[in-house]
Amino acid sequence: MWPRLFPVFPDRASTMATRVDALFFFLIGVSAFFVVLIATLIVYFGFRYRRRRRGEIGREVHAGYTLEVLWTAVPLMLTMVMFFWGANVYFSMGSPPPETLDVYVVAKQWMFKFQQPAGQREIGELHVPAGRNVKLTMTSEDVIHDLYVPAFRVKADILPGRYTTIWFNATKPGTYHFFCAEYCGTKHSGMTGQVVVMEPADYQAWLAGGSGEGSMASAGEKLFQDLGCITCHRADGQGRGPNLQGLYGRPVNLSDGTTVMADDAYVRESILNPAAKIAAGFQPIMPTFQGVVSEEQVLQLIEYVKSLASAQPPPQPQQERPGPRPGETGLARPPSGPIPKTTEPVRKPPK
Ligand code: CUA
Repeated sequence: MWPRLFPVFPDRASTMATRVDALFFFLIGVSAFFVVLIATLIVYFGFRYRRRRRGEIGREVHAGYTLEVLWTAVPLMLTMVMFFWGANVYFSMGSPPPETLDVYVVAKQWMFKFQQPAGQREIGELHVPAGRNVKLTMTSEDVIHDLYVPAFRVKADILPGRYTTIWFNATKPGTYHFFCAEYCGTKHSGMTGQVVVMEPADYQAWLAGGSGEGSMASAGEKLFQDLGCITCHRADGQGRGPNLQGLYGRPVNLSDGTTVMADDAYVRESILNPAAKIAAGFQPIMPTFQGVVSEEQVLQLIEYVKSLASAQPPPQPQQERPGPRPGETGLARPPSGPIPKTTEPVRKPPK
């Protein structure tokens, strides 16, 4: 009904849309009320108190405290309502519910690439089930982009080198446009696509018809082996690197005495810049994987580490572990040469 009455207004297709709109219309309503009130009074007073004789001088008026208190207190109350209401909606947008379907987004000039935890990859199109909380974890390969889905009333910048998230719960099946909302170069205006919201059963069918690549976590596990991570990050806790079982989502003690939450950003940093935060009791011997793994592969590794979260957390080491012995570099080198894409069969080198 809305789009027909007022076709410039976007569809309302997520739980957040209703809340954002309610606030928006409240703001519009309050503003319209005061615009009309003030404009009318200006015109009315203009006539009522106009100068009638030459040389007429206005009389000084003292309106009394009641009026002054009123015109201070009423706007104060109104703006406080706006503030707390707005903050409430804003914080709900910023904090995804605990149970979400985690979809990963990598933006680059000029496309959005999506990857479902089940393994499906898409470009410029995102399939999600209706009625489920979906969280997008997003990063960029190059410049700043911004994902904006007007029908869901969600929008967030996508920055290179870090993760931003948005979440939504789509309420009705359909197709909804999304846009890049941050100027990012020549084809910024063409950096669009659509979210396809499906009935849960249809979504399951869509997932089942996938490419059979395996889940993100299993792709991550394969990478974990191919890159040799597994030689140090051993599941039995005897390796030279921290055991990753039960790590994700828990606080980690660092060698400088601080703690950090093992979230997406921490796992990412530990892969690309391992020296930044050293887990207590370990040596800074891990090489960087910057330039070795792509953003998508980092996300797969994160999904793998996340999949180990339900395992028993490792006992925090009590004392320093012996470092590498003399003559031993202690480095688990990333294999030289390009890392085979997990989606492609490993090709044998030509003889
Ligand atoms: Cu990407 Cu604008």
